[in-house]
Amino acid sequence: MDKLSKLKSHGAWVGRWTFILAATGSAVGLGNIWGFPYKAGTNGGGAFVLIYLLCILAIGIPIMISEIIIGRRSGNSPINAMRLVARDSNSSSGWQIVGWSGILAGILILSFYSVIAGICFNYIFIAASSTGSISSPDQFAEVISSPINLILWHTLFMILTALIVSAGVKNGIGRMVKILMPLLGFIMIFMVFYSVLNGDFNKAMKFLFEPDFSNVTSDTFLQAMGQAFFSLSLGMGSIMAYGAYMPKDQKVVNTSFTVASLDSLVAILAGLAIFPIIFAFNLEPNSGPGLVFVSMLSAFNQMEFGFVIGPLFFILLSIAALSSSISLLEPGVAFLAEEDILSRKRAAEILSFFIWILGLGSALSFNLWADFNLMPGRNFLDSMDFLANQILLPFGGMLIAIFVGWFMNKNLISDELGNANPLLIRIWRFFVKFIAPLSVALIFYNAIFG
Ligand code: PFF
Repeated sequence: MDKLSKLKSHGAWVGRWTFILAATGSAVGLGNIWGFPYKAGTNGGGAFVLIYLLCILAIGIPIMISEIIIGRRSGNSPINAMRLVARDSNSSSGWQIVGWSGILAGILILSFYSVIAGICFNYIFIAASSTGSISSPDQFAEVISSPINLILWHTLFMILTALIVSAGVKNGIGRMVKILMPLLGFIMIFMVFYSVLNGDFNKAMKFLFEPDFSNVTSDTFLQAMGQAFFSLSLGMGSIMAYGAYMPKDQKVVNTSFTVASLDSLVAILAGLAIFPIIFAFNLEPNSGPGLVFVSMLSAFNQMEFGFVIGPLFFILLSIAALSSSISLLEPGVAFLAEEDILSRKRAAEILSFFIWILGLGSALSFNLWADFNLMPGRNFLDSMDFLANQILLPFGGMLIAIFVGWFMNKNLISDELGNANPLLIRIWRFFVKFIAPLSVALIFYNAIFG
């Protein structure tokens, strides 16, 4: 028996909701509540939101279906999943590059993700003790000015991530997500109501949903596409790794739509909660990574029981970040464990340590290294963000679409899609074959040469 055939397949998750919950747990995180509003803000609002939503529909959902198919078919971590499915489709083992680029993307993303999640941890305590006035951008500036502070919280977050991943995905994620994600959804809806009543809701609606294309550039497209991949956890094998645990009788297409809709809903809710406050308090919509912290804290400071609701919000946001971070670490750890290179626990420890070190650069980019550009015009954190979100994820996603659309054995695909609606399958095929890869290629092309 060759090495690939010997690979043991993971056990499946029990219960039809578990995959949806875990995939939603991976998708919903800082990307929705921290990243989406601030990127929409710095990119002028409506046009960015529209392009983002189009990317979710035309590129994201087709690729999500593809990733789940590959993952579930093989029952293995992304590198081996690509190898196995390529072998069974008589294609080159070179397709495993998708898995490798995914592990690299996961490492880069988690290194800065952990720093931002650390700031969320910090805000649990800040929100509990601050009352009265509107939180000013100066206060956020003060929080991020201390390297020691950021590094301590970053360390705590990485330790928690490593602990959960070393315990194994099946035990770690499902239970946590089941109760806490709906609670986060609930608190987001509450915040939207608060903003409708107390903020400048009209201005926010206009900002988010009235596209103004006059300032759209090729970079807006690249950023919106990167954000779509990042938010849906696509292009790096996270969803593929989770797909390996998905029970065979669960419908891939419906599930993908559910996860993508929940994810987009949370992003839009975050926008609707944040921007009315920003406009009502005359804060700048394009102020960058501090947006959610400044605006939400301002709201909590003003509202009754804000000192309870505020910390609760940041606790849930931190947990949403954790349920995403574990999916960033999982593909690499699962691979090292599957190959018997390291035990799961050891793999989680060593990879996390490496990521922690890389994260120091992002923590410092807010203070000591603020003027140090790793890439032209981008500090350390922005460079990690750019490389992973705008290059590696779309690149991985494009390869996945090309593989499933053009190279994967059709019988294997039909087997996985089971009795999905034939029309839906046909539409999906058209999108993975043509629309998704061509859109990514076009956006890349324009960003480079446009
Ligand atoms: N989707 C997560 C978020 O929006 O916060 C981040 C993420 C998780 C990106 C897993 C990529 C990934 F593979």
